[in-house]
Amino acid sequence: MTSLTLTRINWASANHSQHPFQLRDAGLHVAAGEFVGLIGPNGSGKTSLLRCAYRFTQPERGDVLLAHRNLWKQGAKWCAQRIAVVLQEFPDAFGLRVDEVVAMGRTPHKGLFDSDTLEDRQLVQQALVSVGMQGFEAHAFATLSGGEKQRVILARALAQQPQLLILDEPTNHLDPRYQLELLRLVKRLGIGTLASIHDLNLAAAFCDRLYVIDHGRIVASGTPHQVLTTELLRDVFGVEALIDTHPLADYPRITWITQP
Ligand SMILES: Nc1ncnc2c1ncn2[C@@H]1O[C@H](COP(=O)(O)OP(=O)(O)OP(=O)(O)O)[C@@H](O)[C@H]1O
Ligand SMILES: [Mg+2]
Repeated sequence: MTSLTLTRINWASANHSQHPFQLRDAGLHVAAGEFVGLIGPNGSGKTSLLRCAYRFTQPERGDVLLAHRNLWKQGAKWCAQRIAVVLQEFPDAFGLRVDEVVAMGRTPHKGLFDSDTLEDRQLVQQALVSVGMQGFEAHAFATLSGGEKQRVILARALAQQPQLLILDEPTNHLDPRYQLELLRLVKRLGIGTLASIHDLNLAAAFCDRLYVIDHGRIVASGTPHQVLTTELLRDVFGVEALIDTHPLADYPRITWITQP
């Protein structure tokens, strides 16, 4: 069973002398099978922390452990066989077909000169079905809408058969139906997931636990009920909200107070 632990991560952006940014002693834990959300304002460090979690950025201090092993003592391929990532920006897949983009998810499991096996092709097909993109195999990735691209990138992550999923704003480009479908699908996979999510009602509905990051520090963590309070939203996001419990489920519901 695969867990992820970040302990006391410190990292500073190198080239911003006017607006220096630092992750300061940031830590979090994702237990096997747990869906953990990372919330915080724009520029608070969500993407920076996720980059440390998937071995893209090496922290200056602190450890990143996957299944109790230090990521930086393992090779990039070891990580790619275990961690799949869906990012805020789309990869530069100019000229690639949808099925070719999804098949990239199989790369970490193959040797340099291995061609696709029947199993690889089946996994690609299953992944496209899971995200409702079957029939788009031969389309050029570049011609898809933002939401369709997002779903194809999730399909690539599924084809990778990861033990841990890292998602940076996965619902960004999606309409309400696909926002819900994507999060339901991820939840059903039952693998450890760390996702940055701006929509706090979606975070409340789907996350087992939340971490709140502000100015590079983790300032709160716990269940959605524990974390999503009027005071926290005021302190961290500078907004006013009413918070009650969703009428059909046991998680908090946030109603923004929009009057001037
Ligand atoms: N490689 C880098 N070099 C310089 N500055 C960086 C780098 N990466 C991030 N930053 C800065 O660090 C801060 C945090 O950025 P980050 O992308 O982690 O925020 P975020 O919480 O993901 O925001 P958003 O909600 O807008 O996606 C920003 O001020 C950004 O400009
Ligand atoms: Mg970000």
